[in-house]
Amino acid sequence: MVSDQYRMHRLRAGDEWVLGTLARGNARFGDGKEQEWLPPLGTEDTAQFVADPNTVCIVAIDLETNHIAGFVYGGVLKRRHTKLHHICLYEVGVDIDHRSRGVGPLLLSAFAAEARRMGIDRGFVVANADDAEAMKLYTDAGAVRSSAHDVLLGLTF
Ligand SMILES: CC(C)(COP(=O)(O)OP(=O)(O)OC[C@H]1O[C@@H](n2cnc3c(N)ncnc32)[C@H](O)[C@@H]1OP(=O)(O)O)[C@@H](O)C(=O)NCCC(=O)NCCS
Repeated sequence: MVSDQYRMHRLRAGDEWVLGTLARGNARFGDGKEQEWLPPLGTEDTAQFVADPNTVCIVAIDLETNHIAGFVYGGVLKRRHTKLHHICLYEVGVDIDHRSRGVGPLLLSAFAAEARRMGIDRGFVVANADDAEAMKLYTDAGAVRSSAHDVLLGLTF
């Protein structure tokens, strides 16, 4: 069973090295068109990332090799009405050698479980409608598509 091969682990203080590994292996976790390598965060920023209670980053560890097979991360946001917290799932990536084995769904379940543990029952993810694998991953997990008129606008400050 796939869940026996992978252990889900939420990053915490002491796991700083993981971000370097994800940055260096960026292409393995991406769509193949992305940059092969991303500059890692500096030491202080990395420490903040892993220790931040509002940043949920979970990695799937292959128990046979101890390698990172995938990751998901997102951030808790505050709402001004209804319920204080919800969460944005920002990115998910599975190492190319571990794809189509159910690691993506395991990561999403672990992310959902962590959200529920934090008392959060709503969230959202921004996806590209042309990315069939990502769309399948999210809709299989119960995601409901927003209006076709919703667009994502980048801002620069
Ligand atoms: C999207 C992603 C996380 C899925 O992870 P995964 O662990 O491979 O997920 P699964 O094991 O469920 O396998 C993917 C499923 O999509 C199917 N699939 C593969 N290629 C597909 C395609 N081009 N079109 C439709 N379905 C496809 C697989 O057959 C599998 O189906 P199954 O559930 O019936 O077996 C992974 O492909 C990935 O990391 N992609 C690059 C990063 C990315 O796009 N992230 C999302 C946006 S941030």
